[in-house]
Amino acid sequence: MIGRLNHIAIAVTDLDVATLQYSGALGATVGERQDLIEHGVTAVFIELPNTKIELLCPLGKNSPIAGFLKKNVSGGIHHICYEVNNIKAAIIKLKSEGARILGDGTPKIGAHGNPVIFLNPKDFNGALIELEEIG
Ligand code: CO
Repeated sequence: MIGRLNHIAIAVTDLDVATLQYSGALGATVGERQDLIEHGVTAVFIELPNTKIELLCPLGKNSPIAGFLKKNVSGGIHHICYEVNNIKAAIIKLKSEGARILGDGTPKIGAHGNPVIFLNPKDFNGALIELEEIG
């Protein structure tokens, strides 16, 4: 069901510093900052030849990554995103397998304008998984 790795997300404490590090020391192509209000994060995508890196910092008071950064004060790998062809079919299959979807269980629009869901890390080896529908 899952397809390509779309991105790996890293939570950072200072998005400007992290972006400069990727464009400078690591010599990568970095995108524009995006405020994703519905997700409580500001994101910058780094384009790599075979995938993307999403740098995330908290946006607003109830950011879902605020707690993560409290536990991981230097930042850290936050989630990995796999592509799926049909997110509704993916939800039905995952629920039938007993996997739990975070939030209200329905897709939200993600950073690329596509529907996304997040899966409970307790069901997947402690890793937070994002699924993104690539049409
Ligand atoms: Co993501």
